[in-house]
Amino acid sequence: MPKVVTLPAGENWVCMCGRSGKDPHCDGSHQGTGMQPKRVEMGQSGTVAVCVCHRSGSDPLCDGTHKSIA
Ligand code: FES
Repeated sequence: MPKVVTLPAGENWVCMCGRSGKDPHCDGSHQGTGMQPKRVEMGQSGTVAVCVCHRSGSDPLCDGTHKSIA
């Protein structure tokens, strides 16, 4: 399932490791996990679904591809 987050306008770095104390924003806690945040540029504030399966054709946003993964 994608990670659904509400973000402000502008550049956002969305936590993908689950360790951030400022979720949904990365706070650098991913260091040493091998995981990286995803950059999401927002034209205006709103809610988006960020791809977690890494197979979206619209990365960093979900395009529904995860539904076809067995
Ligand atoms: S703190 Fe989670 S990706 Fe950076």
